[in-house]
Amino acid sequence: MSINLAILVSGRGSNMEAILRGIREGRISNVVPKVVVSNRPNVRALDVARQYGVDAVVIDDDGRKGADWEYDKRILACLEEHDVMPDNGLVCLAGFMRIVSSEFVRRYRWRIMNIHPSLLPAFPGLHAQRQALEYGVKVTGCTVHFVDEGVDTGPIILQEAVEVREDDDVESLASRILEREHVIYVRAVQLFAEGRLRIEGRRVRILI
Ligand code: GRF
Repeated sequence: MSINLAILVSGRGSNMEAILRGIREGRISNVVPKVVVSNRPNVRALDVARQYGVDAVVIDDDGRKGADWEYDKRILACLEEHDVMPDNGLVCLAGFMRIVSSEFVRRYRWRIMNIHPSLLPAFPGLHAQRQALEYGVKVTGCTVHFVDEGVDTGPIILQEAVEVREDDDVESLASRILEREHVIYVRAVQLFAEGRLRIEGRRVRILI
């Protein structure tokens, strides 16, 4: 059975694009992109999604932040309309700048993934690349994880390390991390589609 995919975005959408390209080029198989949802209107991700022939929907939160089950119900209705369901769906957060409510998380338990630009549990939350630079770590990276009820706390699927260079600023570091984000997010979606991710406590085992 194929997986029906929804991608939630807020802006640029380069991770979304990497996933859609991965599907188009056959590096991800058995995944059907059904819908891209943005909480903000007029963002690049929406145009790119449409270029890929994917339905792109704005569910405007008018800039209101914080976990909000009332808002999330509108997202859920959209997922249902596009047949992205808890038994056949995968929801990828890709630069989605909202906290997902615990009701949403429970309904789609272990079917929501996120990408974060640090080696979690280091530097959760906003501005992870700046946090890494300011802390002075020599190595940072990126993480794909399942979403649980916390912020950036769910079981880790894949990580990749990125060296911090002497002359890095936030921008240069972020762009090197981003390249690796695109690679591991595509791989994580493919592993999910192959049914190769087993969650055991906090650990995600990758079946060979
Ligand atoms: C990425 O750095 C991602 O890790 C973080 O937000 C950024 C989104 O970039 N969650 P894009 O919209 O995918 O280009």
